[in-house]
Amino acid sequence: MKDMWAELARLGKASEDRSIAALMSDARAEAFSVEACGMRFDYAKTTMDEAARDHLIAMCAAAKLDEKRQAMFSGAPINETEGRAVLHTALRNLDGGSVMVDERDVMPKVLGTIGRMEGFARAVREGRFRGQGGPITDVVNIGIGGSDLGPAMATQALSTYHDGPRCHFVSNVDGAHIADILGPLDPTRTLVIVASKTFTTIETMTNAATAKAWMGQEVRDPAAQFVALSTAQDKTSEFGISETRVFGFADWVGGRYSMWGPIGMALLIAIGPRAFRAFLRGAEAMDRHFRNAEPHENMPVMLALTGIWHNQGCGHATRAVLPYEQRLARLPAYLQQLEMESNGKRVSMDGADLAVDSGPIVWGEPGTNGQHAFYQLIHQGTRVVPCEFMLAAEGFEEELQHQHRLLIANCLAQAEALMKGRSLDEAKALLEGKFKGDELERQARHRVFPGNRPSTMLLYPKLTPEVMGQIVALYEHRVFVEGVLLGINSFDQWGVELGKELAKALEPVVAGEASAEDKDASTATLIDWLQRHGA
Ligand code: F6P
Repeated sequence: MKDMWAELARLGKASEDRSIAALMSDARAEAFSVEACGMRFDYAKTTMDEAARDHLIAMCAAAKLDEKRQAMFSGAPINETEGRAVLHTALRNLDGGSVMVDERDVMPKVLGTIGRMEGFARAVREGRFRGQGGPITDVVNIGIGGSDLGPAMATQALSTYHDGPRCHFVSNVDGAHIADILGPLDPTRTLVIVASKTFTTIETMTNAATAKAWMGQEVRDPAAQFVALSTAQDKTSEFGISETRVFGFADWVGGRYSMWGPIGMALLIAIGPRAFRAFLRGAEAMDRHFRNAEPHENMPVMLALTGIWHNQGCGHATRAVLPYEQRLARLPAYLQQLEMESNGKRVSMDGADLAVDSGPIVWGEPGTNGQHAFYQLIHQGTRVVPCEFMLAAEGFEEELQHQHRLLIANCLAQAEALMKGRSLDEAKALLEGKFKGDELERQARHRVFPGNRPSTMLLYPKLTPEVMGQIVALYEHRVFVEGVLLGINSFDQWGVELGKELAKALEPVVAGEASAEDKDASTATLIDWLQRHGA
C-alpha cells in the first residue's frame, strides 16, 4: 500500500495544473458519475482523470475491500480494538437472510425488537400509552453523539412526514439546553426517551436525572413516562425504568451507526412505523447496491474514492458538505461525527503510524444560506475546499415551486462558478468604462475567481424516508471504504476518552472541593478566574 499511496500523491501533484473545464465533455459527464437507487452522484467536476480513478480502484483491491466488506456484513469481529462485530446493517436487513454472530443468527432478535418498538410507537401515537395527564403531546430524546445526532438529524429531515407527537432533542450538559426544551412542556403529557448505548455517558445521565426530577414535581410515578434505549439493561433498571419500556440492542451496533434500531425511537414515534420501515428499506437497498456493484458503478465506493483523491491525493484537508435542502440542516453535524469519529485516527489497525493523513475535516451548512456566509472563502480563499453538493429534483412545497427552481439554479450555479472561475481579462472587461489603467487592474484583481475548484453533486428525487435511508447508508459505507483504504479501525473512538477522564477529575476542583495544585499553571489560573467570577 505504501507505494500505492506514493503513486496517488504523484498523481495528485500531476493534476495540479489540470483544468477541470478542459477535461469536461459529454462522455466525461456520463463516465464520471454513478446512478444507484434512483440517485445520481456526479464527480465529473473534479481533477480526477481515468488514470487516477484506475489507480484508486486498484487501491481498493490492494486493501482487500471486497473481503473486508464481506467480513463486515457477515458479522466478523472487524472492530478489533473492541473485539466486536460491526452490524448496523443487520438492523435494516428486513428482507435478507440470517446474520450470524458467534454462530448465532441475530436476525430473530433484531426483527423482534423492531416489532416491539413499532408496538410501543403505535401506542404512543394512538394515545393508548398515556402520561398522567392524558395522551402524550411531546417526546424528549435525551442522548448525545450517536444517540442524538442521527435521530435528531433524520427527524428534522423528515418533518413533512410527522404525524405523531412533537419531538425534541436534548444533548448538551449545559443546563440551558434542557431548561429551554422542558420549560414550555407539560410534564404530565411528556414522554422522555433516555438514549444511551452505555447508559453511563455523563451528559445523558445528568440530563436524565434532571428530567426525572422535573417530571417528579407533577407526576406521581415519573419513571412510568420514561423509556430507555440501551445495551446496558442492568443500568436502565437501576434508573427505575421498567423492562417493558427498555429497548435493547447488541454491542455490535456502534453509537454513530445506531439510528436504525432502538436509538431511532424518537424518529419512529414522529413519522410512524410505515415511514420508518421505508427509511430502513432505503438503507437496505443501498446496502445491496454496495455489496454487489462493481467499484466504478458503486456509489459509496466512488464517493469514498473521490474523498481519498481530494484529501490524501491532492492534499485538501477539509470537505464541505452543502445540502441544498433546509431540512438537512443537521446533516453536516451528523456527518462530522460519522466521518471524524470514525476516520480521525493516527494509527492503522496494527498500531503503526498512518502512512498518510487521516480522514478529512468535515463541515458545512445548507445552501443557499452558506452562500451568504463562507462561500467567499470557497471561491476566492487561498485554500481549496472540495465541495459536496446535494440537491433534490423536487421539494415538498407544491405552491412554492418557484422557490425550488431558485434553489436548483443556485446549487448548480455554485458548482459551475467553482469550476469556471473568472479570469483577470473577464474581470477587466466587466469594469471597463468604470475604471482605467492601474486602478482598473487593481479593482479587477479583487473580482478574479481562480476557478478549477472541485465539487461533486448528489442528486435525489425527493427527500422521502426511503431516500433519506439511502443517503445515510451511502455515507456510512463511504466512511467504511475510506477506513479500509487507510487501514484503520473506523469503529472505535479512543480519542474521546482522555478529555472525559480529565473532566471527571476537574469537576471537584471547579466545585472548590479539591485543590488545583496538580494542574498546569494555565488551567489553575483559568479555574481561579472562573471561581472569582461566579463559578
Ligand atoms: O463520547 C463519544 C461517544 O462514545 C460516541 O461514540 C457515542 O455516540 C456517544 O459518546 C454517546 O454514547 P452513549 O450512547 O453510550 O451515551
